[in-house]
Amino acid sequence: MKEKVYKELLLQLGGLIEGETDAVAVLANTAALLHDMMGDRFFWTGFYIARGDELVLGPFQGPIACYRIRCGRGVCGTAWERDETIVVPDVEQFPGHIACSSLSRSEIVVPVHDRTGRVAAVLDIDSRDLAAFDDTDAHYLNRVATLLSPVI
Ligand code: SME
Repeated sequence: MKEKVYKELLLQLGGLIEGETDAVAVLANTAALLHDMMGDRFFWTGFYIARGDELVLGPFQGPIACYRIRCGRGVCGTAWERDETIVVPDVEQFPGHIACSSLSRSEIVVPVHDRTGRVAAVLDIDSRDLAAFDDTDAHYLNRVATLLSPVI
């Protein structure tokens, strides 16, 4: 079920990205598409963009969020520092988790690389449910990140 939605999403995203070169515009529509297609499963869906030694809030859908996250801090800063996807089944068990909303209970963060291979942003998705994300989410969200690489 989830796979079917992700496959449809990748098809739509391919079309959305084609012909647009502005990173903010493409990230904004990507966040909207992901958030809309996943319905209640995704509580917060968005990007933090790497600027110097911080991540700065980028296009997103959902409740307001913190503006800046330092490298190595929280789930986002850790995924950026390690350059790896992090799945957190229970945010309360992740040391240093940054709680932008007390309603968020599980989370996945995926690095987005630019054309040179540098981590230019992270895609962060939160859920109100515990253990909402698994290897299937990690796989397809990494494919989303790969589609974004030429634009970011
Ligand atoms: N929870 C994240 C911070 C961003 S909000 O979830 C939108 C973290 O620990 O990095």
